[in-house]
Amino acid sequence: MILVTGGAGYIGSHTCVELIKAGYEVVVFDNFSNSSEESIKRVEKITSATINLCHGDIRKKSDLRKVFKNYSIDAVIHFAGLKAVGESIQKPLDYYDNNVNGTIALCQVMQEFGCKKIIFSSSATVYGIPHTTPIKEDFPLSATNPYGKTKLFIEEILHDLFASDNSYKIAILRYFNPIGAHESGLIGEDPRGIPNNLMPFISQTAIGKREFLSVFGDDYDTHDGTGVRDYIHVVDLSLGHVKALKKLDDIKEILVVNLGTGCGYSVLDMVKAFEKASGKKVPYKFAPRRSGDVAKCFADASFAKKIIDWSAAKGIDEMCEDAWRWQSKNPNGYN
Ligand code: NAD
Ligand code: UD1
Repeated sequence: MILVTGGAGYIGSHTCVELIKAGYEVVVFDNFSNSSEESIKRVEKITSATINLCHGDIRKKSDLRKVFKNYSIDAVIHFAGLKAVGESIQKPLDYYDNNVNGTIALCQVMQEFGCKKIIFSSSATVYGIPHTTPIKEDFPLSATNPYGKTKLFIEEILHDLFASDNSYKIAILRYFNPIGAHESGLIGEDPRGIPNNLMPFISQTAIGKREFLSVFGDDYDTHDGTGVRDYIHVVDLSLGHVKALKKLDDIKEILVVNLGTGCGYSVLDMVKAFEKASGKKVPYKFAPRRSGDVAKCFADASFAKKIIDWSAAKGIDEMCEDAWRWQSKNPNGYN
């Protein structure tokens, strides 16, 4: 049985689908602070499986113990956490508490129950301002905001845990920019309030919920002056977790892997691709650069290919088509 913390969220729900398709049984543990039970019902619909669901908070060991008592957990895929960069600057203590304390409580309860396998959701944000691209796993790490620091601290905690007991099997997956949705249009990203990230903002503009997209910066050193990122289809990303899970038993060291496509697209490339996929216009205006943004961020994805035999299969057209299907079938998300 695989415990998926944060399994009702965007990436967690898609990963549950792929885990079930690959033959795993899952139990989802979530406090629904940024998700709803509807996503789990949709996962059940896609997979025709029944999902074991536990309401709880990773910071509460009593909640976690119940799960470990009720199910025989072989491994944990740990998605639960807060993820909004701007909010983390406003509320740093909430981020350290939820992400860092939550992960420590989770690892302590895993230890109590003898569960030593964990896959952790890290982020390309741990590369800070990369000195060059594409980004390899051994690049220097830094963080420019509390959210990024929680990812860095947790990575370090996991390294220390492994140093204390090398029978642990730990994978740290550094995601680039997950976008898109399951091809069914039943599950997808459902941001609360005004989206901070590019793709949900573009889709809400295409559907008429937002008047125009502000393109942050037109004078970066990139092919068209707008920021370049490595957008990865959320289903490809989910399959990366299945591959990492299959590899866990064989690893002798902590596994640290970039999950990206290796391709960089600019903001304007994404606007064009989305217009093509949706047949809708995405009005935009140039705006000043957003503080903390880098010009280019894309992965060297070769280590993932070598070590877990994973590479992304879906290109930006498919990412945009699937994002649009989700947006147009669910204009108000899961509500
Ligand atoms: P999400 O907000 O959709 O999912 C996170 C889930 O965790 C939500 O269902 C939320 O309710 C739950 N959760 C939060 N705090 C919890 C707690 N204390 N106890 C129990 N459940 C809790 O986010 P996502 O996009 O699916 O991201 C999943 C993970 O991947 C996060 O750790 C995030 O930092 C990381 N990540 C995401 C991105 C991205 O662009 N989406 C990029 C890099 C890394
Ligand atoms: C952001 C976070 C990063 C996090 C990632 C995934 C910041 C500084 N970084 O990365 O820590 O891991 O999301 O959740 O917030 N853009 C616009 N207009 C918009 C929104 C975005 O032009 O309305 C541009 C950005 O300037 C950037 C690109 O689109 O060039 C992608 O932005 P976004 O989706 O927010 O992702 P990141 O900045 O890569």
